[in-house]
Amino acid sequence: EISFFFPKQNTLAVIKHDAMEQHRETILEEIRGRGFCVTQQKEMVPSRELAEELYKEHKEKPFFNQLVDSMCQGPCLMLVLTKENAVEEWRVMMGPSDPAKAKETSPESLRARFGSDILQNSVHGSSNTQHAEEEIHLIFCDISTEPELSNTETN
Ligand code: TYD
Repeated sequence: EISFFFPKQNTLAVIKHDAMEQHRETILEEIRGRGFCVTQQKEMVPSRELAEELYKEHKEKPFFNQLVDSMCQGPCLMLVLTKENAVEEWRVMMGPSDPAKAKETSPESLRARFGSDILQNSVHGSSNTQHAEEEIHLIFCDISTEPELSNTETN
């Protein structure tokens, strides 16, 4: 018998505002059911600065402002998920970004079942291990991401 070994990884998973009220518990149950360990958890309304940093890879995209706005609209649940091959496995669980596409290609995925449109697509996940590390650091370490502003005078 051939067994495959995947290294243990952390990934950042976010249950977005649009899924929090109705689907939070179901999503958490399914996460645990798939063998992920929830190693950190924090509920928060992301600030604009935080959302911009989280999605900085999309800064030049036409949908960037809308994406950032939608992330700041209400409480989100930030999770660090730990498991072998966690980054890829969480992305598979989420399904494609656009829930309409997800319904066609992966009807079991979270976005197919709980997303409404590409902006309100219920969950976020890091796209690779490098991003995962940066995103986890951003959310779970209290380091300012706006050094310029801390030097400006306030009245
Ligand atoms: P992306 O990183 O491509 O997808 P994923 O979340 O699956 O990693 O895009 C980040 C988010 O940007 C995505 O969850 C929804 C939003 N988005 C739009 O609003 N419009 C678009 O055309 C795309 C590609 C993404």
